[in-house]
Amino acid sequence: MAIHVDRENRVFTIHTAHSTYQFMAGPYGFLLHLYYGKRIDHQSLEYLIQRKDWASFSSNPGDAGGDRTFSLDTLPLEYPTAGTGDCRISAAAALDEDGAAALDPRYKDFEIRRGKYALPGLPALYEAEPGEAETLAVVLEDPVSRLELELLYGVFAEKDIITRAVVFTNRSGKNLRLTRALSAGVDFLYGDFDLVHFHGRHMMERQIARVPAAPGIQTVSSARGTSSHQHNPGVILCEKDAGEDYGDCYGFNLVYSGSFAAQVEQDQTGQTRLVMGVDYGGFTFLLAGGERFTTPELVMCHSGGGFAALSHRYHRIYRHNLCRGDWKLARRPVLINNWEATYFRFDGPKLIQIAEAAAGLGLDLLVMDDGWFGARDDDNRGLGDWFPNEEKLGMSLGTLVEEVNKRGLKFGIWFEPEMVNEESGLYRAHPDWVLRLPGRDPVRGRGQLALDMSRQDTRDYLFERISAVLDSARVEYVKWDMNRSLSDWYSPLLPADRQGELPHRYVLGLYDLLERLTRKYPRVLFEGCSGGGGRFDPGMLFYHPQIWCSDNTDAIDRLKIQYGTSFFYPVSAVGSHVSVVPNHGTGRTTPLATRCIAAMAGTFGFEMDLTRMDDAERAEAARWTAEFKKYQPLIHGGAYYRLLSPFERRGAPGNAGVTAWEFVSPDKTQALLCAAAGEIRANPLNIHIRLKGLDENRLYRLGEALYTGAALMYGGFALPGFRGDYPARVFFFEGA
Ligand code: GLA
Repeated sequence: MAIHVDRENRVFTIHTAHSTYQFMAGPYGFLLHLYYGKRIDHQSLEYLIQRKDWASFSSNPGDAGGDRTFSLDTLPLEYPTAGTGDCRISAAAALDEDGAAALDPRYKDFEIRRGKYALPGLPALYEAEPGEAETLAVVLEDPVSRLELELLYGVFAEKDIITRAVVFTNRSGKNLRLTRALSAGVDFLYGDFDLVHFHGRHMMERQIARVPAAPGIQTVSSARGTSSHQHNPGVILCEKDAGEDYGDCYGFNLVYSGSFAAQVEQDQTGQTRLVMGVDYGGFTFLLAGGERFTTPELVMCHSGGGFAALSHRYHRIYRHNLCRGDWKLARRPVLINNWEATYFRFDGPKLIQIAEAAAGLGLDLLVMDDGWFGARDDDNRGLGDWFPNEEKLGMSLGTLVEEVNKRGLKFGIWFEPEMVNEESGLYRAHPDWVLRLPGRDPVRGRGQLALDMSRQDTRDYLFERISAVLDSARVEYVKWDMNRSLSDWYSPLLPADRQGELPHRYVLGLYDLLERLTRKYPRVLFEGCSGGGGRFDPGMLFYHPQIWCSDNTDAIDRLKIQYGTSFFYPVSAVGSHVSVVPNHGTGRTTPLATRCIAAMAGTFGFEMDLTRMDDAERAEAARWTAEFKKYQPLIHGGAYYRLLSPFERRGAPGNAGVTAWEFVSPDKTQALLCAAAGEIRANPLNIHIRLKGLDENRLYRLGEALYTGAALMYGGFALPGFRGDYPARVFFFEGA
């Protein structure tokens, strides 16, 4: 049993294959957190809590009477709430009808359910095989306000994953207002942690930062209405000495695509608290009698063996228990996207020429990017008018798709459904459908406004219009883009006291539309995008099994972006393309092989004018496409190892800017080692790389040479010398 309850002592223990999580209903019904870490038995760890009088400034709840040793300000709590005497960061806060700010939930009951809970209207992990998950539901209630909290724990024992979410239900007849409702909190009674997080900007997403969890509060957050380029909703707490292969680390990844916060507080007693969930300035949610609020899900994982094991667990659960649809585990098409090839300047014949060239390289699908609809010849107009511009294309969409199909390629199309330009038929017809503050000039981003996705009428329009396009021709792929930070949070359909719900309602509306469309078109491959990787999060992966990782297609920058992305997200989710040199973003010139090798750590595809390649380039691109297709099951289905980081020069003596990574097949019979050099020096030092994840006793063949797994993992591999600008190589080891 993954969930063990000691009813007498009210201790709840959750076991996964390698971890244990424990809490208890303590004195007066307060939930105390006891443990999260390496697997132990179900002994209660209550003994670790040493209560004492912390002197006057850590106050005591009324129930404790004269007992000054019982303070919620110093105890490790399972789900900390505001207004109870705990002055640290809280996970939830509420206002009573009279405006009193207190949320004092006490333990009432629990239930163990077979299977994994679902969260209506929200993306969440699901059971891929019956019986692989269990749910623990613990019910608390504030006896005064009658606000009920159902703490949900989803347990994928064999996969070492525990999920959290909370359902708030107003059991009183009065209005209550949530002012904070995060998905979870975890208190660590002691320990010296680092916080690892992934920050960045447009074209440079998910750069890794590792900082000490110092006294005070540290926040990683987005208030942009999207999960954002700037901070990914995935953070890791780890021991000081944790690395790829060693040490305790804890992952927290929010299944949500809107504004969020992860906060880490090291308190006066040396405890460390992490809370995470939906967060933005002005968040409120009004609950009339009987109404509910459900938080998004937080996916937690503990690894006692460093970051590599942590990443493998996230990759596995996301591939199998988060992504859905026909394309989830299927071999993804290798695509050619026309954006960097033509930008807005294209017509049907040009796309057909590109398709023809793509067919010659062995590609599978052509994506017609931005510019095919309305009066969209630049980025100031047309968004919202999802009608093919037949005049520009020189043909109907149906004819274009047929012509592309005739050349042996499937056809895909770009949409940016959530957005509208003021210069568009949609805006002229429905100016009230946008997010806009009354009486104020709108804030524009890329010259565009955002539609109010909380509105059913707006969503219905989008559903019908997108369906009409998808029904009008054989469209087999959709790129779902979103190109601005959101602002102007006001919806005329919501009363004044519900405007604070809008950023969350926007995300719920988006999910509703995505659910309807992906259900209606199960055979269409959806790829997410937000100016590249501005919404690269597990919420989106529930609807789109792949996401365009970054608008930055420079192979060398991509090493960093993809390295950071790999901590939580599987390689099969990472949209990555080969583009032209000099690169449009950086001006850098890298060899075609290096660009191909970088793109192979993802879905692989091209985003350049293939008609302009010379014969040698064409032959090389075709070779790499064939290589990728050969290795695709290994790359997407295998275990991904980070060997040498592009962010640091450690890991191998002489590592002069070499990044290395490796894919190992599940049965360990194949391994693909990839290495790329960000800089080259004369008279270079030798570089040795230790492979990972192999079978010690197996023989592996590389060309003529034979190595044992043990030799490659513990002795290592000697990289042949690198010369020239930004070289890269792959080495395929096959079990002999
Ligand atoms: C965003 C996307 C790009 C491209 C353009 C089109 O920037 O990330 O890939 O689709 O929009 O306008």
